[in-house]
Amino acid sequence: MRPLVATIDLSAIAHNYAVAKRCAPGRQAFAVVKANAYGHGVREVVTALHDVADGFAVASLEEAAEVRALHGEARILLLEGCFAADEYQFAAQLGLDVVVHTALQAQQLLAATLRRPLAVWLKLDSGMHRLGFNAAALRDWFGHLHGAAHVGELNLLSHFACADERGSDVSEGQLEQFLELLDLDFAQRSLANSAAILTIPAAHMDWLRPGIMLYGATPFADLGVEELGLRPAMSLTAQLIACRDIDVGDAVGYGGTWRATRPSRIGTVSCGYADGYPRHASAGTPVIVRGQRVALVGRVSMDMLTVDLTDVPEATEGDAVELWEAQLPVDEVAQAAGTIGYELLSKVTARVPRRYRTG
Ligand SMILES: Cc1ncc(COP(=O)(O)O)c(C=O)c1O
Repeated sequence: MRPLVATIDLSAIAHNYAVAKRCAPGRQAFAVVKANAYGHGVREVVTALHDVADGFAVASLEEAAEVRALHGEARILLLEGCFAADEYQFAAQLGLDVVVHTALQAQQLLAATLRRPLAVWLKLDSGMHRLGFNAAALRDWFGHLHGAAHVGELNLLSHFACADERGSDVSEGQLEQFLELLDLDFAQRSLANSAAILTIPAAHMDWLRPGIMLYGATPFADLGVEELGLRPAMSLTAQLIACRDIDVGDAVGYGGTWRATRPSRIGTVSCGYADGYPRHASAGTPVIVRGQRVALVGRVSMDMLTVDLTDVPEATEGDAVELWEAQLPVDEVAQAAGTIGYELLSKVTARVPRRYRTG
């Protein structure tokens, strides 16, 4: 078997969910499990949170159906709502909470034949300008939907654009826009993603929507998981499958982009971009061998990458190589590759086996 595995600590996810809840006592929380639970495996994550999560949030009807099959009662929020008129019927069958962010969605909802009313979350575009109604249109649609036979609860939701920048004026403005609508008689309100759960208590409202923090990665550029009291859930472990000594001036990998400036020992590692490791990780990106940090050198290829083992001469073929883990946060690897932990976690590909542990 190819020596590459993503080990997922389900107790870390349960711990991180509890951290989110502790940040906002008395509030409820949708655990965001879209995109295969950010790469961690939706089945296992929903099962691990079955008895503790108040609800789950997903991006599509297909994802919602998967969660419903695992959990008969939990509230399941469709974050972008339905994508076509015929989906409302299925959403009602599955007993989902649906976001409504366009006039077309609202019209389709009202025109649908539903087995039972749907809990609806009207989405306010409070400044991100990606999804949602402006305040005037939202007030208007509140009038049409409130008390409609198709609508069970009528709720309010919005999303922060810059909550990862602490003290951002943008977030302040978005919060104000949200608060200005609270004269309307919404049953429930939801605004906070992980960054806001952790740093903007005024945004906690009734329902939290923790995503990245559940998986033990940070939404902030300047605040690490340890400081936030979170436990990383995934470690990605490969192996040294070859080692060689090279001379000064020798090049490594495709394009020969990295050249040795000293006699060097090069290790070849069983992980590449087809596994989800970022191809654009620059030379110097850390990986861990025998407990020590060593540097990525040369281009990442499809199934392999190469590292400089010169300072760990005892390293040998068969040694484990940690691409990320508790001691090497995924956020640090992401930064070196010009991306964010969200992308690396959710892009670990299907060919990487997941192993689960609970402590
Ligand atoms: C609408 C919405 N709410 C909540 C989340 C969770 O955000 P985070 O992972 O930053 O906690 C997302 C994630 O993209 C989202 O799109």
